[in-house]
Amino acid sequence: MNAANHNAVEVNKLEKRFGGFVAVNHISFDVARGEIFGFLGPNGAGKSTTIKMLCGIFTPSSGSGTVGGFDIIREQNKIKQNIGYMSQRFSLYDDLTVEENIEFYSGIYGVPASKKQQRENWVIEMAGLESFKNNLTRTLSAGFKQRLSLGCALLHEPKIIFLDEPTSGVDPIARKNFWNLIKQMASTGVTVFVTTHYMDDAENCDRLALIYKGTIIAMGTSGQLKAEVTTIIKPSLEDVFVSLIENYDKQEKQ
Ligand SMILES: Nc1ncnc2c1ncn2[C@@H]1O[C@H](COP(=O)(O)OP(=O)(O)OP(=O)(O)O)[C@@H](O)[C@H]1O
Ligand SMILES: [Mg+2]
Repeated sequence: MNAANHNAVEVNKLEKRFGGFVAVNHISFDVARGEIFGFLGPNGAGKSTTIKMLCGIFTPSSGSGTVGGFDIIREQNKIKQNIGYMSQRFSLYDDLTVEENIEFYSGIYGVPASKKQQRENWVIEMAGLESFKNNLTRTLSAGFKQRLSLGCALLHEPKIIFLDEPTSGVDPIARKNFWNLIKQMASTGVTVFVTTHYMDDAENCDRLALIYKGTIIAMGTSGQLKAEVTTIIKPSLEDVFVSLIENYDKQEKQ
């Protein structure tokens, strides 16, 4: 680690271009340790691209940042050892059983032999997969796949986790359970960076950033964002989201 007092995530003017297309346009923000930080934005806004730069999968085109005190450009391998990442398309192996997927990820994340069994049991129990241990992963419902995928990302007890649309396609009860677990982890000091399209997920976050066309167009608590929209009485987060995007588009045209 560099400084002892670093934020969990620090990003300064981060940019990602694919050829001539700017997917993430000079964004800057910090995430405090133990914070649940929600990253919202329409399809194609740049959420997954940002997460991939923070997780050491994509190298930024310009800008700088740290995750857990490690440099996102020079220390990508250290970052990978210290974070949990749940990708948008749960990276589980469909033709492995539940138990085999857990084994596999426990090897990838280098869970020490002394802890392996205990951590693997924790995932099974946390995900409620006791009766499905030997089932092929492809036979699981979306909700169970999500829980297994989250469990695999947490096997090595990372202090910072990145969750890319972890609740898409999951029923309200499973989402509620999921958020209970996330909040419980955050209360022990784990930092959570989560993208979502669901506004009730967003209400569970300590702070939100709204990204649109690669630019962060608003950031703050859900209360602060709601206060920005003065044209609607008691706006919902969804109203806020739509209104900020419409305003951004109007200003862009001027
Ligand atoms: N590897 C790539 N090569 C070229 N363009 C890419 C690549 N990855 C992403 N993009 C483009 O960058 C933009 C941002 O994509 P990104 O996946 O970050 O969006 P997102 O906010 O995660 O959207 P969604 O809500 O649909 O998951 C999109 O226009 C996408 O087509
Ligand atoms: Mg995405």
